[in-house]
Amino acid sequence: MKIFFLDQSGKPGGAELCLLDVAMPYKNHGLVGLLADGPFRELLEQHQIPVQVLTNQAIQVQKASGLLQSLRSSGTLFTPLMKAVQLSRDYDLIYANTQKALVVGAIASLLTRLPLVYHLHDIVSPDHFSPTNQRIIITLANRFASRVIANSHASQKAFVDAGGDANKTTVIYNGFNPAAYQVASTQREHMRQELGIRDRFVIGHFSRLSPWKGQHILIEALAQCSANVIALFVGDALFGEEAYVKQLHHQVIQLGLQERVHFLGFRSTIPELMSACDLVAHTSTAPEPFGRVIVEAMLCGCPVVAAAAGGAVELVQPDRTGWLVPPGDSLKLADVITQIQANSERSHQIAQYAQIRATQQFNLATTNQQIAELLQVIVKH
Ligand code: UDP
Ligand code: GLC
Repeated sequence: MKIFFLDQSGKPGGAELCLLDVAMPYKNHGLVGLLADGPFRELLEQHQIPVQVLTNQAIQVQKASGLLQSLRSSGTLFTPLMKAVQLSRDYDLIYANTQKALVVGAIASLLTRLPLVYHLHDIVSPDHFSPTNQRIIITLANRFASRVIANSHASQKAFVDAGGDANKTTVIYNGFNPAAYQVASTQREHMRQELGIRDRFVIGHFSRLSPWKGQHILIEALAQCSANVIALFVGDALFGEEAYVKQLHHQVIQLGLQERVHFLGFRSTIPELMSACDLVAHTSTAPEPFGRVIVEAMLCGCPVVAAAAGGAVELVQPDRTGWLVPPGDSLKLADVITQIQANSERSHQIAQYAQIRATQQFNLATTNQQIAELLQVIVKH
């Protein structure tokens, strides 16, 4: 089967890292079209996945765009759309990964009569999208997509609640290669030394820096924890959130936490860094559609505490595979951190069980098989 994948971003966010895994089996007979250039293109090339950037002009649609902005930006979609139409003619199916890709993919599928699959990585709700953008997603998906792959039951439910056709949806979780998250204890020690961690209790936060990812909540919580607890923030502002980054640095200074908070920027060695942590915290203040970092922490055998909303609730079984706290509740988070720190044997047991469960539940071989079966049915029709 020949697949033409479309993705909106040149930056390696979670939806793009998921696409990297989904596109891998089709690398000899597939092509990824990107609506922006950037390090994600390089990552695809490193993995020998054919890729073409469809435009050199930034597409202006933001998640919060209103009708006027969306109409204005439609001009910037013309070039990538024409390229997508021209390129996709050699393929059996268009696979739109994310929202802007859906817009281009839907029109391209209309013009080429190719079937369209939409991989939904978002919670279509006012927390994440303007009313105009919610309408665009629902209308295009209902009208043009043969199937909608939702990355969690939470994303599926929000899609249906917003008017999406439930019959088109299938939930397929992100898959992972468990072996990639096995880190030797010598490597862990080496990483802790390199980071200068020594005997401190290290909380890792792995996410792009963005207000709804809630890095500020962990900083607030840290101020309530004992002085040997420190936090590492791994990730960068990928989508222009520089004001938030400034705010975080200011918050750290205000709370006098300069010695206990470290910003490491974007890193590509996530398993090594996660394994060096005593706890991974996920602190999104809006419902997380899936939350790759939560599963990745589990696969590393690192205890994980997550914000109880959206897909995160499907990933963590409280007190069995991890801990859940209400989103935005820094006091409760500090309380849970203190408990985990005080009871390392129990948290180690929970992390070990989580590693076994995550290996079974979020296995890349299984998810790629599910996707392959779904695509085959569509192409045969
Ligand atoms: N990640 C990364 N380097 C970083 C920070 C994050 O490679 O410096 C990865 C992380 O391991 C995860 C993805 O980025 O696979 C983020 O996905 P997630 O679903 O957690 O959140 P998203 O950013 O997609 O909303
Ligand atoms: C999106 C979501 C994230 C999810 C990822 C992969 O980027 O924000 O929650 O884990 O896609 O599906």
